[in-house]
Amino acid sequence: MRIVIPGGSGQVGTLLCRHFLGQGHSVAVLRRQSSSEWPAQLEDSDVCINLAGRSVNCRYTVRNRRIIYESRISSTQFLNEVIGSLKHPPHVWLNASTATIYRHALDRPMDEATGELGGGDPGAPDTWNFSIDVAKGWEQAFFSTPTRRTRKVALRSAMTFSPSRGGVFDVLLGLVRHGLGGTIGPGTQFVSWIHEADFANAIDFLIEREDFDGVVNLASPHPLPNRDFMRELRAAWGTRIGLPSPSWLLEIGTLLMRTESELVLKSRRVVPGRLAAAGFPFLFPDWPAAARELVGRWRRENESASSWKTRQTGGEVRWLE
Ligand SMILES: NC(=O)c1ccc[n+]([C@@H]2O[C@H](COP(=O)([O-])OP(=O)(O)OC[C@H]3O[C@@H](n4cnc5c(N)ncnc54)[C@H](OP(=O)(O)O)[C@@H]3O)[C@@H](O)[C@H]2O)c1
Repeated sequence: MRIVIPGGSGQVGTLLCRHFLGQGHSVAVLRRQSSSEWPAQLEDSDVCINLAGRSVNCRYTVRNRRIIYESRISSTQFLNEVIGSLKHPPHVWLNASTATIYRHALDRPMDEATGELGGGDPGAPDTWNFSIDVAKGWEQAFFSTPTRRTRKVALRSAMTFSPSRGGVFDVLLGLVRHGLGGTIGPGTQFVSWIHEADFANAIDFLIEREDFDGVVNLASPHPLPNRDFMRELRAAWGTRIGLPSPSWLLEIGTLLMRTESELVLKSRRVVPGRLAAAGFPFLFPDWPAAARELVGRWRRENESASSWKTRQTGGEVRWLE
């Protein structure tokens, strides 16, 4: 297959490139600087996976909010125009969205059919409502223009865990490695996550299954409270001790790290209703086994920094600068 990935140079794109190349597919990563090339790259392609958008790992200043929002909406609108104009458009277009679209949920799991979208919650921090507005605007931009010959799926992904440097798992494991991996905030908030192998296999599944369109949750079937999540991550690393981070301390820490606390304080209790109903076989449905596997690979990949670099830059991906 010919697979085209706008925004494929980041964390998720890198893991998908490795996955598809391993299967012998051809992959083109599209970068924003080369948008004039996008129509030619998408013509006659089989699959488009759009991951483009300014990273949310920053402080939500007025300027950053504008860029986070506009980069997602405008790249999605642009792709709607491009795909609508092609002679031979891709059969399927998977567009990034996020599990953050659901409300802060401590009480019950959120699947696609019965989950409640968040937004405008009076008690919620303004940053949480902002993220939900972005997700809603993003999906609206995606679905607002029907593409008759191209099936559309919005990927409501949870945090995708791989051992790559700088990824979200690496950051959380960094807390554990430095003795700071205790419970974060109240500890009752749920953590939704998905192992990179299940993420990549779910993408294969969504490409193949022509009966799937609309929104799909990509998350392990067993989200768990932060207290248990951090305890299992410590166990996988081989330590029992970790200083807890109460919410006030976390706010100071994230301010110093130029990021937001939403990622760890908002309760994301998102479950893969549609994938589970279709019998999708998760390799890592439970956190303890996923944590052990990720920690094991993190250790091996960090034994030699150069071996990691080789793996990231190897392969046959065509980069359009
Ligand atoms: N990582 C996760 O666990 C996760 C979970 C849920 C949802 N998502 C969503 O999935 C997508 C991919 O995630 P990721 O972690 O791979 O993100 P990432 O590492 O930040 O990469 C996103 C890509 O978007 C492009 N980009 C950056 N700024 C842009 C801008 N101003 N305008 C247009 N494009 C821009 C960049 O590509 P170029 O610089 O090459 O153009 C970048 O490589 C994101 O939209 C994210 O919100 C991720």
